[in-house]
Amino acid sequence: MSARLTNKRILLGVTGGIAAYKSAELIRRLRDAGAEVQVVMTAAAQEFITPLTLQALSGNPVHTSLLDPAAEAAMGHIELARWADLILIAPASADAIARITQGIANDLLTTLWLAAAGKKAIAPAMNQQMWADAATQANLGVLRERGVAVFGPASGLQACGDVGAGRLLEAVELAECCAEQFNSGLLQGREIIITAGPTREALDPVRYMSNHSSGKMGFALAEACVEAGARVTLIAGPVHLPTPDRVHRVDVVCARDMLAASEEAVAQALSRAGHINTVFIATAAVADYRPAQVADQKIKKGEKDDTLDITLIRNPDIVATIAGLNPRPLVMGFAAETQSVENYATSKLFRKKLDMIACNDVSRSDIGFQSDDNAMTVFWPEQDHLGRHELAKASKHEIARQLTHLLAQRLGARA
Ligand code: C5P
Repeated sequence: MSARLTNKRILLGVTGGIAAYKSAELIRRLRDAGAEVQVVMTAAAQEFITPLTLQALSGNPVHTSLLDPAAEAAMGHIELARWADLILIAPASADAIARITQGIANDLLTTLWLAAAGKKAIAPAMNQQMWADAATQANLGVLRERGVAVFGPASGLQACGDVGAGRLLEAVELAECCAEQFNSGLLQGREIIITAGPTREALDPVRYMSNHSSGKMGFALAEACVEAGARVTLIAGPVHLPTPDRVHRVDVVCARDMLAASEEAVAQALSRAGHINTVFIATAAVADYRPAQVADQKIKKGEKDDTLDITLIRNPDIVATIAGLNPRPLVMGFAAETQSVENYATSKLFRKKLDMIACNDVSRSDIGFQSDDNAMTVFWPEQDHLGRHELAKASKHEIARQLTHLLAQRLGARA
């Protein structure tokens, strides 16, 4: 099976060693699998392979210095560290391994390593004696304990003529190892239905009412749920986004179609997996109202008409309808608010009988609607209080992955 890294941001650290040439092939494999790649090279790595080669292959400027004002102005090192979903050092020399174990930050790569919040991995490559040395093995033990994934090394003939452990894994294997970092299996056996994007409510054959929802959060969630092992149906309003791998997508236009598609998908999921294993997630920004009448022909403006009256009627509440089913799936809603975010969100949680609600403040321009980033607080009712979890500002993909963990927890609590 080929590796799947769609939309993953990988920061590849290349350190000095003969295996550095393999990083060129690795970048290709990571990009073929859908990842975005930024490369950081140590000074020693540049003795083995040029930044120009890795820049051409990654499609991004290669980062080499902590003190380069131009690079800092383009993307500061802390920003770069935060950008990464995964930081992988491949090849990781014995020296780099020792430095990251100690928390030394004396070059760009080790500084980024310390500042990175996402997943961390190393692919060691060195002489077999250096690999076997007690110092290297002790460092590896410490890193593993801290949750760092160690890919390889493989055994075999080494560049120096020795035979033994210490060869860098092949690029294909490394790309596969990276993909595995994102496959948690947390939602294995679950059926998940997600609504996403805006709805469009027709006024006449050429006009409609809608909103600015991009659908990015729902699509990111669909992708994260599939990666976590779930079977996912994504019911999408009109958006300009590609369908994530292995996601079953149903396109709809208006709220009533979205409701019908949701009811059908939920009924099928319930019959396949049972209510305990079914989840409905409503990220869609459904229009609350629609024009009471859709004109058959384009509405004409009269010469003297300065105003036009349109009567709107209420659309069905999709998430509340699904939450009203019996038996019902676990239901999660979203609340985009511009004020009193928490109060409105929690009152929606109870009024719509949801199991969870994720709320964010769309008055902030750096997160929410059209943005690639989001930050939210998730609430759920516990026996005698309200459970709550804050998700700090991160890419919608990262937020989505964190939501899969919360979902898995709530599903566990429900069983
Ligand atoms: O009431 P409000 O629109 O703020 O509630 C937000 C939540 O309800 C979201 O999860 C949204 O997808 C869902 N919703 C719905 N159908 C509607 C309105 C909102 O599913 N007609």
